[in-house]
Amino acid sequence: MTQRKLFVTTALPYANGKFHIGHIMEYIQADIWVRYQRMQGAQVNFVGADDAHGAPIMIAAEKAGQTPEAFVGAIAAGRQQYLDGFQVRFDNWHSTHSPENTELAQAIYRDLKAAGLIETRTIEQFFDPEKNMFLPDRYIKGECPRCHSKDQYGDNCEVCSAVYAPTDLINPYSALTGAKPVLKNSEHYFFQLSNPRCVEFLQDWTQNGQHVQPEVANKVKEWFGTRTNPDGSTSEGLGDWDISRDAPYFGIEIPDAPGKYFYVWLDAPVGYLASLKNLLDKRGEDYAAYMADPALEQVHFIGKDIVTFHTLFWPAMLKFSGRKTPDKICVHGFLTVNNGEKMSKSRGTGLDPLKYLDLGMNPEWLRYYLAAKLNGRNEDIDFNPDDFMARVNSDLIGKFVNIASRAAGFIAKRFGGQLGTPGADGQALVATLQAEAGAIAEAFEKRDTARALREVMLLADRVNEYVDANKPWELAKKEGADARLQDVCTTCIEAFRLLALYLKPVLPSLAAQVEAFLKIEPLQWPDASRLLSAGHGIGAYQHLMQRVDVKQLDALFEPPAAAEPEQALPGGEAIAETIGIDDFSKIDLRIARIVACQKVEGSTKLLQLTLDVGEGKTRNVFSGIASSYQPEQLVGKLTVVVANLAPRKMKFGLSEGMVLAASHADGKADTGIYVLEPFAGAQPGMRVR
Ligand code: MSP
Ligand code: ZN
Repeated sequence: MTQRKLFVTTALPYANGKFHIGHIMEYIQADIWVRYQRMQGAQVNFVGADDAHGAPIMIAAEKAGQTPEAFVGAIAAGRQQYLDGFQVRFDNWHSTHSPENTELAQAIYRDLKAAGLIETRTIEQFFDPEKNMFLPDRYIKGECPRCHSKDQYGDNCEVCSAVYAPTDLINPYSALTGAKPVLKNSEHYFFQLSNPRCVEFLQDWTQNGQHVQPEVANKVKEWFGTRTNPDGSTSEGLGDWDISRDAPYFGIEIPDAPGKYFYVWLDAPVGYLASLKNLLDKRGEDYAAYMADPALEQVHFIGKDIVTFHTLFWPAMLKFSGRKTPDKICVHGFLTVNNGEKMSKSRGTGLDPLKYLDLGMNPEWLRYYLAAKLNGRNEDIDFNPDDFMARVNSDLIGKFVNIASRAAGFIAKRFGGQLGTPGADGQALVATLQAEAGAIAEAFEKRDTARALREVMLLADRVNEYVDANKPWELAKKEGADARLQDVCTTCIEAFRLLALYLKPVLPSLAAQVEAFLKIEPLQWPDASRLLSAGHGIGAYQHLMQRVDVKQLDALFEPPAAAEPEQALPGGEAIAETIGIDDFSKIDLRIARIVACQKVEGSTKLLQLTLDVGEGKTRNVFSGIASSYQPEQLVGKLTVVVANLAPRKMKFGLSEGMVLAASHADGKADTGIYVLEPFAGAQPGMRVR
């Protein structure tokens, strides 16, 4: 058989947060497949990268008071400890914010344009006049047009699940600044997915049974039919894809289009190629030649939420820019923890991968457990602590690891560490194990690790039956049974070697320990058809793996201190995200004297204040404190005002600032509102910092 050449990737995680256990699951699944392929002699390049671009990352960086580059750099620096910890061995980890990605994304775009598949269209979009930027849907909020719930997102209502366009919101506002967004025209670039050439190609590519799982192909098929638009109307077939965003945007500039950037999902999958190119460049290999090899197979591991991008946009981008298209998109489902509760960092229901490692829990337990659940289809799987403990302790350790401990001691003590020759029954047992190599290989190939491990555990059962039938510990006491003892223990060691080989893609470091203990070369798949020879010397057995301790699991799921129940939250709400001093200094706080105060006719909440902020003129400010103060209590007092807040036009007039007041998050009416007052000596106009 000729060596396979594989280029394998996992989805590129957004660089706005740490890895969670769902990411780790994807990497473990892909890593197992890659290790299996390598054991079969394949040449593999297995790469990942951070998906660094897009509006959410740009905004998160700004909130953190950092440049986007510094922000994503800090995230990138935290990646390796997870990968090393869970024995996920990428050949390279790169970033979409890289010269390789800029070059490749722009080249692909130019080729698509030359192919006549790029067009421009003017679209109308919400624009934040304070921030001077177009707002992505999720940064527009307002009142739901259907159920009238307030503060709903621009694309759907979390209360009544209505789906709509941002322009349908009642009283829309920018989630970034609170400003009222205005509709503004902008020229956008579109990739013509609706072009018959694209549709024809994609229909074949997705439906010919070669590139995606059947359940995925069926889902994709629906997208070629009727689709529902954001406004509820329907259209036929694939829509064109909007690939541009206006500055300011953290991304890659579109060639010959000043102020326009690629939408993050255009350059994100190009990051697969960029990471590969970066790796090959470092090794002094030629990227173009590597990609041009017709034998090369390109395989992407992804989750079910990003199928559209990988089965429509990405293959079409590659095909019509004249590049190699993917060979396989391997789609997995979602991992949930503790009976399907959606993972949430704040509630502590999730499984924190670093905490797992910090508690000294063995990464191979998790690899084994996840592999035992993943079957190559895109179903969700659940991490259940009891199930986890049972599978690791009874199957992995009880059935597999213990085989070696039951036989190795006698070989060392009684036979100078030397193996003998299995008897007829032993040979039959070993042959049974060898006969399954093909079926187990096929299961690994199909990513049906659940089946592979089931097969292995059935074989382990056979070996344990053999041990129980032959009782080496009794043979050891029997006069004249030395030859049989060596034969039985040799059979056990041989069987153990085969099981370790079959488990090696899942348990690489356990396999390495076994290789050291058996004094053999690193196990490769063809070693399944070979046997150790009589007289082969093995080393001393050392315990290979601890059992899971229930205390570790309890500690793992103990909620982090910061996520205590709600009543423990100060003032009824969590402390807001950390900001830099730069952010704070943007707010100009000043001492103000309340020179006049009166009730507002038609409002039970507001008081109208006249403030002296030391500017030589007064300001008019409306404040929602009428439930707690009578006007006469306030006149003459000093307080603190946000002096550089954009003036706000209200029903009762213009408000030129905001008075600071304390309140509990809920039940303002019961617990009251408290206007801030400085210590004696402060003067109107002094800055508060
Ligand atoms: N940045 C995009 C992918 C770009 S690929 C060119 C993205 N990032 S992500 O961080 O949100 O997700 C990365 C991968 O993790 C995706 O394949 C996603 O399906 C997977 N998972 C996210 N949550 C998951 C679980 N709970 N369980 C399993 N996988 C999950 O999407
Ligand atoms: Zn609603």
